[in-house]
Amino acid sequence: MKACILIIVICVLHYSYSCTSKNLDGTTRNLREIFIGRCYEFFHGTHQDKCNINPNRYDCNEIWYKFKEIVIGKDPCEIKMDDFNSFLKSVDHPIKTNSALFWSGTYTPAHEISKYYGYWSLEDTLSGYLLNKLIFCSEKNLQKFNEKSCPNECVKTNNSYWYAASKYFAQKVRGQVTVVLNGTRTIGAVSNTSTFLNYELPNFKKNNVKLVRVILLHRLGTEKYETCNEPKSLHKLESILMERNIRYECQDNPKYIIGLFCFQNPMSKECQSIKYLINV
Ligand SMILES: *[C@@H]1O[C@H](CO)[C@@H](O)[C@H](O)[C@H]1NC(C)=O
Ligand SMILES: *[C@@H]1O[C@H](CO)[C@@H](O)[C@H](O)[C@H]1NC(C)=O
Ligand SMILES: *[C@@H]1O[C@H](CO)[C@@H](O)[C@H](O)[C@H]1NC(C)=O
Repeated sequence: MKACILIIVICVLHYSYSCTSKNLDGTTRNLREIFIGRCYEFFHGTHQDKCNINPNRYDCNEIWYKFKEIVIGKDPCEIKMDDFNSFLKSVDHPIKTNSALFWSGTYTPAHEISKYYGYWSLEDTLSGYLLNKLIFCSEKNLQKFNEKSCPNECVKTNNSYWYAASKYFAQKVRGQVTVVLNGTRTIGAVSNTSTFLNYELPNFKKNNVKLVRVILLHRLGTEKYETCNEPKSLHKLESILMERNIRYECQDNPKYIIGLFCFQNPMSKECQSIKYLINV
């Protein structure tokens, strides 16, 4: 009898903690609470320099309401980038000149770099922060978010919100811009289908952006697909910048960056050579 109850208890626990829970595919559960919580946290928590941001100008509930109004009741593919214009204006805030960071194929290290140096990636700005890694969709004539399932197309990929937010962010950056790219991946550091190439780079303002500084990361101990000196896809970036009179620089696995990652892979060759160079 005891054993039987125990088995039932284990099964119930197992079921309730199981990772294969129901709505991995639909709108993130408690989207509203997460969104509004992140909004408050943005103004009162995180690391970036917020000296020039006045929290009193923003109303987190109103921001949520605006967002919800755009998404609810529509097929995700029906929502256009421009639909988010006024929302993106309402979450806009200043960022310091020379502090913008873009990334492609380097999500984790790029955000570590951003955090460490106090740069601003899209996900550090309010528009990205509110929705980073969250899934949201409704459907035509549904008067709420769809919590059961969201299509891949227009939600998990080709999401007009992320394209619009990326474009908006790119349009406002100034001075020196840092771009963290992946020199290992075989689709190229500057992939034809990347958000960076299609929505960010074309929207840098010619007279505002002065220098694009590429940090080209290579996976430690793996063959490099391209390097700064032997570029393949990086030519695309260089020529677009040249046309617009924006300076271009590129560094492979810069030491001051690799040092940051040494704790993750302290025995790697690259890490050992840095230790040697900086004599620790
Ligand atoms: C770079 O691309 C390679 C190949 O696709 C991938 O294995 C690696 O995880 C990527 N690097 C980062 C930092 O995401
Ligand atoms: C990327 O696009 C350019 C121009 O449209 C094309 O010449 C090139 O072959 C494409 N590269 C890849 C890897 O598909
Ligand atoms: C979605 O994105 C893929 C790759 O980025 C692209 O080939 C495709 O045309 C896009 N679809 C739409 C509807 O824009």
